[in-house]
Amino acid sequence: MRIILVGPGRAGLSLSLAARAAGHDIRAVVGRTLDSAQAGIAIVGGQPLTPDVDLPEADLLLLATRDEAIGAVAAQIAPHAGAVASAVHISGLAPVTTLDPLAEAGLATGSFHPLQTLPNPETGAARISGAWIAVTAAEPLKGRLVELARSVGASPFDIDDAHKPLYHAAAAAAANFPLAALTMASDLFEAAGVPFDAARPLVEAVVGNAFDIGPRPALTGPVARGDVDTVRAQLDAVAAADPSWLGAFAAFVRELARLTGRSEEFEEMLRTWEPG
Ligand SMILES: NC(=O)c1ccc[n+]([C@@H]2O[C@H](COP(=O)([O-])OP(=O)(O)OC[C@H]3O[C@@H](n4cnc5c(N)ncnc54)[C@H](OP(=O)(O)O)[C@@H]3O)[C@@H](O)[C@H]2O)c1
Repeated sequence: MRIILVGPGRAGLSLSLAARAAGHDIRAVVGRTLDSAQAGIAIVGGQPLTPDVDLPEADLLLLATRDEAIGAVAAQIAPHAGAVASAVHISGLAPVTTLDPLAEAGLATGSFHPLQTLPNPETGAARISGAWIAVTAAEPLKGRLVELARSVGASPFDIDDAHKPLYHAAAAAAANFPLAALTMASDLFEAAGVPFDAARPLVEAVVGNAFDIGPRPALTGPVARGDVDTVRAQLDAVAAADPSWLGAFAAFVRELARLTGRSEEFEEMLRTWEPG
C-alpha cells in the first residue's frame, strides 16, 4: 500500500515503521510543523509535509493524531486529499464518523486500532507483530485493512463502532487495572523486605493461566478457598505495615469474593474486622 502518515507520534510512527518493514511504501509524513514531519521521515521515510498542502497519490491516509484532534485534522486535510483513496484513524474509542470530512471528500473511511502499547517507534513496530488490530470499515476497504494487518504480522478482528467504548473500557481494564494491583503488591513486598522481582514467575504464571484456562478458573488463594481467617490476618498485616493500601486491599477481597460466590462470608468479616 502507498501510505501517508498524518501525526508522526508514537503510534503512527510505530505502525508506519512496521508497514515499511513489511514492504509498504510510506509516501509522506504530515506533521503539525515541517520540523516534526522531517523528524518523522527520518524514521519511516517519505516526503515531509504540513497539513495545508495537497497530498500525493496514495491508497491510505493513516491519521494518528491524539483522539481529540482527529476530527479537526480530518477537516483540515480534506480539501487536500483528492488523490488519496481511503483514510483510517487508529483510535480504539473514536467512531469512524470522526473522519466524515474525508468521507465527504470521497475517501473510504475506517479505523485501525492496534490493541498494544506503543511507547516509541522502534519498540512499537516490533510489538505490532503478534498484536491484534481492531478493524472498523465497510468493504472493500475492510479487506485491504485486513491484508495490511496480516502483512505486519498482526491478527485483525472486526469491531463495530457501537462497541468501541466498551471495547476501550475492556482494554483499559486489561492494560491498566492489573498495574494497580501490582503497585500494591510491590509496596507490600518492599515493606516485608522482599524484592518485587521475586514475584515475577508467579505473576507471569497467573497471566498465562488467565489466557490458558480463563481468568475465573485461574483464581486461587484464600478468598477463592473461603479461608476467612487467613484474609483477616492479611488485613491486620497490611494495616500495620502500610494502611494507605487497606481500602484497596479490602476492595480487591470484596471483588474476588463476588467472583467466587463467597460475598456473604467475606462481607460479614469485612464489616466486623478491626485491626488487631
Ligand atoms: N501510543 C499507544 O500506545 C497507542 C496504541 C494504540 C492506539 N493509539 C492511538 O494512536 C493515536 C495517537 O496516540 P499517540 O500515543 O501516538 O500520541 P502522540 O505520541 O502524542 O502522537 C500524536 C501525534 O499527532 C501529531 N499531531 C497533532 N495535531 C496534529 C496536526 N494538526 N497535524 C499533524 N499532526 C498532528 C502530534 O504532533 P505534536 O507532537 O506536534 O503534538 C504527534 O506527533 C491516538 O488515537 C491513540 O488512541 C496509541
